[in-house]
Amino acid sequence: MNEKALDETSPLYLSGALLDGWYAPSLRGDGNTGLGRWSEADIYQFLKSGRNRHAVVFGSMTAYNNSTQFMVDDDLKAIARYLKSLPGDPDRDGAPWKYEQTPGGVLAMGERSKFPGAQTFMARCSACHGQDGRGQGPWIPPLAGSASSMAKENASSINVTLSGSGRVVASGVPDAYRMPSCRNQLSDREIADVLTFVRTSWGNRGVR
Ligand code: HEC
Repeated sequence: MNEKALDETSPLYLSGALLDGWYAPSLRGDGNTGLGRWSEADIYQFLKSGRNRHAVVFGSMTAYNNSTQFMVDDDLKAIARYLKSLPGDPDRDGAPWKYEQTPGGVLAMGERSKFPGAQTFMARCSACHGQDGRGQGPWIPPLAGSASSMAKENASSINVTLSGSGRVVASGVPDAYRMPSCRNQLSDREIADVLTFVRTSWGNRGVR
């Protein structure tokens, strides 16, 4: 990975990048693809416990979180305050995400066959992430409005669905819910279809 910028004098600083098959999202105030909708307390909670109402760590962030949780609280709070000082870029980020009801008919039995991914979503994903895509924060992250579903880079959506995610251990206790690896249960076609469904439902705009 090339550093795009070395400090906050550039709007590209911490604005997200591909790294080892994962897309590290923006840590700036981008409302859709960054931390714009997160409060300072949300950022602190994420670094401390690996989860909050917006997201749960996955991919390369999992190992990293197993160390940020041991930082002293003042440092974690200082990081949160600093990140909230970095403005987003509406040109890059687009119009603010708003939850939209996926057309009711899509998830009704008769209509599902027109959206191949909807069928797989209902069978394989909705028990955890919810039919409404809102998840069950802070245990299971929402897919509606998540940075991975709003970013045009699809690497994280694909990688986490293929590979699942490692256990998050907080205060020595492993968590109960894991994103399962789907590479042996679903074909590449099914994974592409379900992620197209996820990335275009509930107001998500990851496919554009
Ligand atoms: C057993 C519950 C469970 C099921 C079933 C499940 N997931 Fe997940 N998923 C999780 C959890 C928990 C996470 C957060 C990472 C972690 O802690 O493992 C997650 C994370 C994700 C993420 C990353 C979200 C973000 O914050 O950006 C995506 C995308 C995702 N899941 C898609 C899917 C898809 C697509 C399916 C169905 C094929 C699915 N999940 C099925 C539990 C589940």
